[in-house]
Amino acid sequence: MDIIIINGPNLNLLGKREPTIYGSKGFEDYFKELLSRYPNVNLSYFQSNVEGELINQIHESGFKVDGIILNAGAFTHTSLAIADAISAVNSPVIEVHISNVFKREAVRHHSFITPVCVGSICGFGLDSYRLALEAILEDK
Ligand code: DQA
Repeated sequence: MDIIIINGPNLNLLGKREPTIYGSKGFEDYFKELLSRYPNVNLSYFQSNVEGELINQIHESGFKVDGIILNAGAFTHTSLAIADAISAVNSPVIEVHISNVFKREAVRHHSFITPVCVGSICGFGLDSYRLALEAILEDK
């Protein structure tokens, strides 16, 4: 089972960035926990602040892996190009957000990617990623 987590802009700063919203743990530490909790999953991780690099990674992974867990960060609310990339590939994509975007500013309530994802998980902190992983495993 191959699953990739793709994180978008500013998520490289998890642990330092607005900890009251996103928590105080860095993603690398959380990713290590996921690796040890799911030893039978071939789990990989990619992060970029650049929209085109995220699209390239979706293209690269999207015909190979069993699932993509995508936190597109603010591109969620702006990027038709990322939505088109998700539509273009075969692998199921699950949208993830650490914060509950619906409790936040109205601009965060709209997502370009929700209609092209299998489902969406938000508001459970970093555990949102594990819940997405469980959803992919459950589906197999
Ligand atoms: C986020 C929510 C987005 O609105 C925001 O731009 C992010 C992070 C989240 O994980 O809660 O960068 O995707």
